[in-house]
Amino acid sequence: MNVLMIGAGGREYSIGLALKKDENVETIYFAPGNGATDELGENLNISDFNELADFVEANNIELTIVGPEAPLVDGIVDVFEKRGLTIFGPTAQAAQLEGSKIFMKNFLARHNVPTAKYIETDSLEDAYKFINTLEVPIVVKADGLCGGKGVIIAQSHDEAKKAAGEMLSGNSFGDAGTSIVVEEFLDGYELSVFAICDGKDYVVLPAAQDHKRLLNNDEGPNTGGMGAYAPTPLVNDEIYRKLDERVIEPTLKGMEAEGMPFTGVLFIGVMVVKGEPIILEYNVRFGDPECEELMPLLKSPASELFYKAATGDLKNAKIEFHDKYAVGVVMASKDYPYKSTAPAEIIVDDIYHEELKENAHISYAGVSRGDDGKLYATGGRVLVCVGVGDSIKEAQERAYMLVGQVHFAGKQCRTDIAYQAL
Ligand code: AMP
Ligand code: GLY
Repeated sequence: MNVLMIGAGGREYSIGLALKKDENVETIYFAPGNGATDELGENLNISDFNELADFVEANNIELTIVGPEAPLVDGIVDVFEKRGLTIFGPTAQAAQLEGSKIFMKNFLARHNVPTAKYIETDSLEDAYKFINTLEVPIVVKADGLCGGKGVIIAQSHDEAKKAAGEMLSGNSFGDAGTSIVVEEFLDGYELSVFAICDGKDYVVLPAAQDHKRLLNNDEGPNTGGMGAYAPTPLVNDEIYRKLDERVIEPTLKGMEAEGMPFTGVLFIGVMVVKGEPIILEYNVRFGDPECEELMPLLKSPASELFYKAATGDLKNAKIEFHDKYAVGVVMASKDYPYKSTAPAEIIVDDIYHEELKENAHISYAGVSRGDDGKLYATGGRVLVCVGVGDSIKEAQERAYMLVGQVHFAGKQCRTDIAYQAL
């Protein structure tokens, strides 16, 4: 089949790589793709949803997969479904699980899914009152999509009140902050759990752990994620069972009962507090860089997983994973996450080592192709070096061996990805 992949990041590149290995897949189109996805398929310069649907009809594309949240929240799935096209992702209504933190928190409360104690409000007075009842640190969140930056972890009551005031006045996040969530701080370890859902049934992928801070030892500013690994030994069968019973099943049943069955990736941001999984947030797409480690662990054909999910047929799928580990190290440009950096040529040394060739690869993200045909680092997070192995240690060593073969001016990466598991 021909497949259309919506998005431009390392996440979409890694799904493209999994589709490329899949015998059932002929041509992969990327809209818009990046400077490296043209090696996996064909990049399209189309963004209008109806024009994309026209292209899908004209080119016999049987499956469209949506990578990022923005087109989902903007209703690409609704447009495609209205035209009878198969697309993997939630409708705009269901995407509110990510698009609105207030919708998500209220949904979790309605369906008794464990989450941090909170209020949602547009009143500064109410926010102050609730803040006074909490112990520090206190978490203040803007309602809408803010590219992962709408969360303040305040170290004092005054700081929390100031953050609430700035969000509600529209000064910090514009319209995304005209309502806010204030919640208690959860102290534990964080996991990224992904369930591929078809509206009723689901497949849980190996649990991953992201590294959100820029610097080693989880110091420095928050980023989109500097590296990840999977599966993490920080999850046991008991936690998986609790996630099934208390989180995923009530969520899918609840979404169906509320008239918006959930199809797509349910990305569950989990904080494990004293052995109990508590939900921090939902996203409605794969995490980036988590996707880059999960795709190489998928043993079943990627097209089967996504097609069966998109067509409500997961109960007839037998999805298998390799009994291996993957570690991904993000290489970012010099001024990430503060500002953009001038383009820098990427040079990858020839790799002669068979073991590395077979067990490590690059997922390209913020790159563009110059008129000279060369690849340039143009984005904040430029690429992810992924190593696969029989242990986390082996996967980590391979990922870092590959990092050593990649060069561009100003490159930066963490040197401790997966440290919590080692
Ligand atoms: P979010 O945008 O909701 O994913 O939040 C971004 C990050 O802030 C999360 O990945 C957590 O590391 C942190 N965070 C959010 N809410 C809480 C909370 N209630 N307690 C502790 N950390 C939190
Ligand atoms: N890596 C976390 C995210 O994609 O939101």
